[in-house]
Amino acid sequence: MTGNKSRGHNFISQVLQILLILCCLLQCHSRPRSYDSKPLSEISKEVLYGKAQNRSYERLAEFTDTIGNRVSGSKNLDLAIKYMYNALRQDGLENVHLEPVKIPHWVRGEESAVMLLPRNHTLAILGLGSSVGTPPVGIEAEVIVVDSFEELKKRASEAKGKIVVYNQPFVRASEAAKVGAVASLIRSVTPFSINSPHTGWQWYQPGVVQIPTACITVEDAQMMARMARRGQRIVVRLTMAAKTLPDVDSFNTVAEITGSEHPEQVGDFKYVLLVHYTCTVQYA
Ligand SMILES: *[C@@H]1O[C@H](CO)[C@@H](O)[C@H](O)[C@H]1NC(C)=O
Ligand SMILES: *[C@@H]1O[C@H](CO)[C@@H](O)[C@H](O)[C@H]1NC(C)=O
Repeated sequence: MTGNKSRGHNFISQVLQILLILCCLLQCHSRPRSYDSKPLSEISKEVLYGKAQNRSYERLAEFTDTIGNRVSGSKNLDLAIKYMYNALRQDGLENVHLEPVKIPHWVRGEESAVMLLPRNHTLAILGLGSSVGTPPVGIEAEVIVVDSFEELKKRASEAKGKIVVYNQPFVRASEAAKVGAVASLIRSVTPFSINSPHTGWQWYQPGVVQIPTACITVEDAQMMARMARRGQRIVVRLTMAAKTLPDVDSFNTVAEITGSEHPEQVGDFKYVLLVHYTCTVQYA
């Protein structure tokens, strides 16, 4: 999920990209079973302070600036895959190829959430990937704020017909649906927030009613928790046009770097497998 504009997320992406480059380089210098840490520190020095300084960040910036958000099944994801394929070829990696695969096609659509009580306030939200939408007029309901699944279970009888606000990062709408809630709002998982919602992908449990689910900001989750503690009645209207369309054709992008010392060996520890998600649900 690299399409996010917030610093915290970019930082994590940057670290991941650096790790990716480190691992690629490690593979070239592969020392199976008993490698010492000297090459690793040389590589990290090169990446953090040497010629390769800023390269991962600059590449990541160019990629996200050029492609933008790329939710599963979108045109932008196709563009992102083409971009990565060409970049890997230009970088001289071997056996760069695309493997056909079917992926979910989820469309976020227009979405909004407004708090109507105790005061009018627009909530910044991002629907969770794969979430169902609401009816076009939205869902207007009283809010119950919980800090954990345990609390939700204990207060199950209060949750029926309400919008559950998780003031803790959980990504399972099904738990709220099981106790009769009509929607759930989840506090974003992030150490850094300037009223910025962070989202992810969720899966509904089979056999449980699918309810709309979105992420709200840390600030709004904390505010609603405070209001609830004071005994204030909170009412929110949530409107989401999200929908899931039939699966579409896409690709896994695969590339290899053959080891320089023992390219003929294919035993334990001879492969370093790196996986990078090209798609994202942020700001889609
Ligand atoms: C990396 O970026 C920093 C901050 O912008 C800059 O001071 C430094 O010179 C850059 N390093 C290289 C190798 O370009
Ligand atoms: C809050 O918004 C509703 C419409 O969404 C409006 O009818 C109401 O007057 C507003 N209340 C205040 C205090 O602004």
